[in-house]
Amino acid sequence: MSGLVIYCSRYGSTQEYAEALAKSMKWEAISYKNVSAKALKDTEAVVLASNVRIGKMGITKLAKRYRNMISSKCKALIVVGGTERDKQDYYLDIAKKNLSFLGLKDEQIFGLGGRQKMAGMKGMDSFLFKIMDKMIKDSPGKTEMMQEVDYVDIQHIEPIVAYLKK
Ligand SMILES: Cc1cc2nc3c(=O)[nH]c(=O)nc-3n(C[C@H](O)[C@H](O)[C@H](O)COP(=O)(O)O)c2cc1C
Repeated sequence: MSGLVIYCSRYGSTQEYAEALAKSMKWEAISYKNVSAKALKDTEAVVLASNVRIGKMGITKLAKRYRNMISSKCKALIVVGGTERDKQDYYLDIAKKNLSFLGLKDEQIFGLGGRQKMAGMKGMDSFLFKIMDKMIKDSPGKTEMMQEVDYVDIQHIEPIVAYLKK
C-alpha cells in the first residue's frame, strides 16, 4: 500500500517523527506546505502528524481544505506537543477539538512528546509564550507547559507502525 505522512512542524520534532514513520512504512513524508490534490488522489493511505500551538493543531487548515480526500484515507493522526506522552487524554482532547470532522476513532490518535526550548524560538513564539505564561497563571498544567522540555523519542513511533501494519 502506498502512503503519505503529511506533517506540520516548526521546530522539527514532528518532522523527525513523520520521517521515521515514513521510513519504517516505506512511505513518503511530506510537509503540509507541499501537499497537492494530485498527491492525495494518488496515495492509498494518509497519516497526519502535527504540532500543537496554544491548543491548535497546525495541520487543521489543510485537513479542512482536503477533508473529503483525507478522511477516507486517513489511517492515523499524530499530535506532537510539549506535553509528556503518557498524557494521552490531553492529546486526544486536542485532536478532537481540532480535527473531529475527520471522524477518527480514539485508537487512531497518538500523542507524542516534542521539544520546547525558549532559546531556539522563532519570530513571535517567545512573545506568545510569555503571554501564555500570564494567561495560565493558576492552571494546574502550567508548570509543565512552561518548562523547557525534550520528550522526543523516535522509538515511540513503533506502536504506530504496529498499528498501521495490523
Ligand atoms: C507558542 C507555542 C505554543 C505552544 N502551545 C502548546 C500547547 O498548547 N500544548 C502543548 O502540548 N505544547 C505546546 N507547545 C509546545 C510545542 O507543541 C512543542 O514544542 C512541539 O514539539 C513543537 O513541534 P515541532 O517541533 O514539530 O514544531 C507550544 C509551543 C510554542 C512555541
